[in-house]
Amino acid sequence: MSSQIDHLLTETRRFAPSASFAAQAVADRELYERAAADREGFWADQARALHWHTPFTRVLDWSNPPFAEWFGDGELNVAYNCLDRHVEAGNGERVALRWEGEPGDQRTVTYAQLTDEVKRLANVLTDLGVERGDRVAIYLPMIPEAIASMLAVARIGAVHSVVFGGFSADSLRARIDDAGAKVVITADGGWRKGKVSPLKPAVDLALADRNGSGIQESVEHVLVVKRGENDVDWSEGRDLWWHDVVPQASNAHEAEAFPAETPLFILYTSGTTGKPKGILHTSGGYLTQAAFTNRVVHDVHPETDVYWCTADIGWITGHTYVTYGPLANGATQLLYEGTPDTPHPGRWWELIEKHGVTIFYTAPTAIRSFMKIGRDVPQKFDLSSLRLLGSVGEPINPEAWVWYREIIGADETPIVDTWWQTETGAIMISALPGVTETKPGSAQVPLPGVSIAVVDDQGEPVGNGSGGLLVVTEPWPSMLRGIWGDPDRYRETYWEKFADKGYYFAGDGARLDDDGDVWLLGRVDDVMNVSGHRLSTAEIESALVGHEGVAEAAVVGASDETTGQAVVAFVIIKSRYLKQKGVEGLGDELRTWVGAQIGPIARPRDVYIVGELPKTRSGKIMRRLLRDVAEGREVGDTTTLADTAVMSVISAQVK
Ligand code: PRX
Repeated sequence: MSSQIDHLLTETRRFAPSASFAAQAVADRELYERAAADREGFWADQARALHWHTPFTRVLDWSNPPFAEWFGDGELNVAYNCLDRHVEAGNGERVALRWEGEPGDQRTVTYAQLTDEVKRLANVLTDLGVERGDRVAIYLPMIPEAIASMLAVARIGAVHSVVFGGFSADSLRARIDDAGAKVVITADGGWRKGKVSPLKPAVDLALADRNGSGIQESVEHVLVVKRGENDVDWSEGRDLWWHDVVPQASNAHEAEAFPAETPLFILYTSGTTGKPKGILHTSGGYLTQAAFTNRVVHDVHPETDVYWCTADIGWITGHTYVTYGPLANGATQLLYEGTPDTPHPGRWWELIEKHGVTIFYTAPTAIRSFMKIGRDVPQKFDLSSLRLLGSVGEPINPEAWVWYREIIGADETPIVDTWWQTETGAIMISALPGVTETKPGSAQVPLPGVSIAVVDDQGEPVGNGSGGLLVVTEPWPSMLRGIWGDPDRYRETYWEKFADKGYYFAGDGARLDDDGDVWLLGRVDDVMNVSGHRLSTAEIESALVGHEGVAEAAVVGASDETTGQAVVAFVIIKSRYLKQKGVEGLGDELRTWVGAQIGPIARPRDVYIVGELPKTRSGKIMRRLLRDVAEGREVGDTTTLADTAVMSVISAQVK
């Protein structure tokens, strides 16, 4: 990490906002002053931009930390805020979604149409027995029905758990079981990389006969959208086609008011243990910060902008900046089903030109892969509609930042590098476009109303020019409210480390420069960030040792030019297995195995078969040393190893 820091510190380029951008920007400097003068009053003002069926009188209740309540006595309906209120304000004909499928098919969905669809689906879900507080799993491709599903679940006060379509049947099953989902909404399949990738079969597998498993099946119905036209098995009585029930349902549905702290969704993310955590978000505070940050950080002008966030709804970015933020603001957005390079490497730029996209929000890994392909691909397209670019999910290296600005942003558009997490629910650290002078590679400043610090192990501020751990020092509206079904893990993971100070521990390392701007330095725990996706080393290790040949496994995240980090696995093979089958092809077999167990994003880049792993005297694997090997560096200090010779053996085996 130190070489990375040195490199960052030599970065001195600065980009002031243009006068024309600043003149029209939603954000202004005053926001900081207002928030500093009265933080809770500031958030109350932002919350009042939403429609409250019952206005709140209390802002923050932090009497039972770390369990916060925001706007606790207020009542609202999240879906009403994203839909009906725009229609009632006379904007029903405004386009909510300009959707394009990977094969090039298109649909335009207005706010009136989306409201209508959500009302019908809300009636269908109610008829299927879904009640307030029940959980609904959503396993869909990026099609308008995915957005409608989230909103319909929210509309009836139920809780959605969206599972990324790239996750395996096993991962889906674990998530369905943990949440006790009553209904699953899926599709036959979706388009990815030029072909239909089936989804329904994974749902069937996840719900397959559980005799002997001891698990009571919670799922009563599976609602299936026809998208891929692939053949699917059918379980009579359990499965329903969307097109058989939704269009026929009544479009009369009144949005009920729910208390602000009504659970809105659970979203699973990787932690430091093998078991994914179900991060719980609630309604009023979450929607407040989602809408506010989308407005001021993405500079959304709903009447004129065409906004595009490329994230899948299976991740938090898709929840907050595809579904809730932009729709709460009444924005028009592009929704694209497929991959960036199908059928040609310029597909994203073609979409920007065709749909006149003005605001574009994506991940550094995508930018780096475009850099690799070369500038002549985007330069074939007219990208002049773009006026703001955003980055999210991992540190963006200054080179990628500058390329993004020059090649995609015509050397003119502001770039916002936004730091946040599944747990924070919405953006926490970012420049404000039109206000902040930007620095390539730094996420810069906490948003108005957000209090962060960089501290040492004792929780003391490190001061400018030093590095430490990133913490959030005050509760914020869109903060997680817990881990589903596991309050102890919630406390331990985020609040125990700085319990005496009451700080939220984010798990990221950070450095403050001489101006006090924040530079994120990556995770300080056993969580990897591969292409902006969070993966846990423990989860992949446990998948590896599930293979019949593997005795022990250690996984590290090694830096990778394109994906930020890459999964590198070191495995010890059982000697009996070696004698019978040998190692021929075993590395590839294990890569495929992990892909099937968790999902293709978790597939290791490299699998090294070794004879031993570096362990301390207490038996803890020293991943730091394995990372040195994986990154081709000289191996660091080995004095705490039980057997100091082991690293030279491993290094030799890896070569
Ligand atoms: O390490 C940080 C990194 O992504 C982690 C959160 O991952 P996830 O919950 O999947 O959410 C990703 C989308 C918000 C953080 O702990 N991260 C996210 N954004 C940035 C970042 N690291 C550096 N710079 C960022 N802008």
